[in-house]
Amino acid sequence: MLPYKTMILIEEKVDRPIYLQITHGLIQHIQSGVIKSGTKIPGTRVLSKLLEVHRKTVVRAVEELEAQGWVDIIPYRGVFVVNDLPQRRFQKLKEKVSPPKPLTKTGYELPKRKFLTDAIFSKHRLIFSDGSPDVRLAPVNELATAYARYLRDPDPRAVLKYGDARGPQRLREILAKEFNRDRGLHLTANNILITRGSQMAIFLAAQILLRKGDTILVGETSYFSANRCFRSLGAELLVIPVDENGLCVEEIPRLIKKGKIIKALYLTSHHHHPTTVTLSPERRLHLLDLASQYGFAIIEDDYSYDFHYTNSPILPLASADRNGHVIYIGSFSKSTAPAFRVGYIMAPEEVIQEAARHRCFIDRQGDTVLELAIADLLENGTIQRYRKKAIKQYRKRLDLFCERMSTGLLADRTDFKRPDGGMAAWVKFDPRVSMVDLSKRADQKGLYLSNGLSYNPEGQILNATRMGFASMNEEELLEGFDLLEELLK
Ligand SMILES: Cc1ncc(COP(=O)(O)O)c(C=O)c1O
Repeated sequence: MLPYKTMILIEEKVDRPIYLQITHGLIQHIQSGVIKSGTKIPGTRVLSKLLEVHRKTVVRAVEELEAQGWVDIIPYRGVFVVNDLPQRRFQKLKEKVSPPKPLTKTGYELPKRKFLTDAIFSKHRLIFSDGSPDVRLAPVNELATAYARYLRDPDPRAVLKYGDARGPQRLREILAKEFNRDRGLHLTANNILITRGSQMAIFLAAQILLRKGDTILVGETSYFSANRCFRSLGAELLVIPVDENGLCVEEIPRLIKKGKIIKALYLTSHHHHPTTVTLSPERRLHLLDLASQYGFAIIEDDYSYDFHYTNSPILPLASADRNGHVIYIGSFSKSTAPAFRVGYIMAPEEVIQEAARHRCFIDRQGDTVLELAIADLLENGTIQRYRKKAIKQYRKRLDLFCERMSTGLLADRTDFKRPDGGMAAWVKFDPRVSMVDLSKRADQKGLYLSNGLSYNPEGQILNATRMGFASMNEEELLEGFDLLEELLK
């Protein structure tokens, strides 16, 4: 029911009878569209109680409304706003009250910030993504069962009440055990904060580490979403070259000698975003030494550690970090599906406590039920089995991708190196191909292919893009390639 009590103002000191004030108040709201045609007006007994007036006054007001043609009184059913509102009266008052409609603009000046862009998503069936998984393979039934089990608990208080901003202890314990065993980390639950995906983890790390004017090192090519996040906080980005072995960390002393104080460094240690190269073990150790020597933090975004097709992953920098420099970040977006927003920050306790405080500014806690369901799936091995199954599929898709990209016109117009893992390849296009035009024409044909602009370092056009091979099945991949070849002709 509408809040009639506050919608209709009754003033005692005015020269208009109360019943007319009620009538006019209701007419105003009918005209402005707040009380819509067909709406049942509360009965006179209810309305008189709400408005704190005698019932007879309300009866008069309603009779007046009916006399003016705004409502129909239907015996034994009630009072209804008429469907054909009196046009003449409506026109007359329309000048004063504009009918409400969904708003698009503010009535005040909205501060416009730089570096904000729309999130990328495609409505197409055929998508050469930035590196997304095939969500059709995700263990959704198992997740649904685990999720429902928590909701059906006869005493759901433990999971439904406010909880720890760091995430459920149980999930953090399971992750500590798994990451200590499989990735050589040295964690307890207190070294972990569960986020809603890696992006939130990047944001929290940046919030903790960076103030306006601070400098952060990033690759000359780097993950655009992280760069935008750092810039939005007013940080200055200092770029390091990237080659076949990842970030050229040996360049860091030269950059730092220019008198800069470096607060942090961001990297994607496996399958560097966007070029997919992996940081070599030597450079990992060198980078840790540099972090100790110059006192900066390392944000290690190991977003695709789980997906390798030829060799095993290299242990994270975090595994060799003895001095508390590394903030290790990842998520389950690739190893379940991006819609399940569960990620993590693993770092010294001091960082985790600070991150928990910052998290509370935007999000009191995560989705406890989902996080516990993920804990169940980790504990009973579902996620591990799913990863194995997905890796097998993705390896086949990568084979097909490489085969098709190495034949015909695609081979002639593109250049790429087979990535050893991840879900996308870095593909350079012949300078004769306009990526912007190609992407636009692909879009018209129902195929998503990024124009690659967001991967370009400042002031350079690489004419390259990431082409995901994992999210489409083999048939779809072939269909996508046929379309692409057609467009390249
Ligand atoms: C390098 C990198 N980091 C982080 C993310 C964010 O992923 P999410 O927030 O879904 O965990 C992505 C997404 O693809 C990514 O490519």
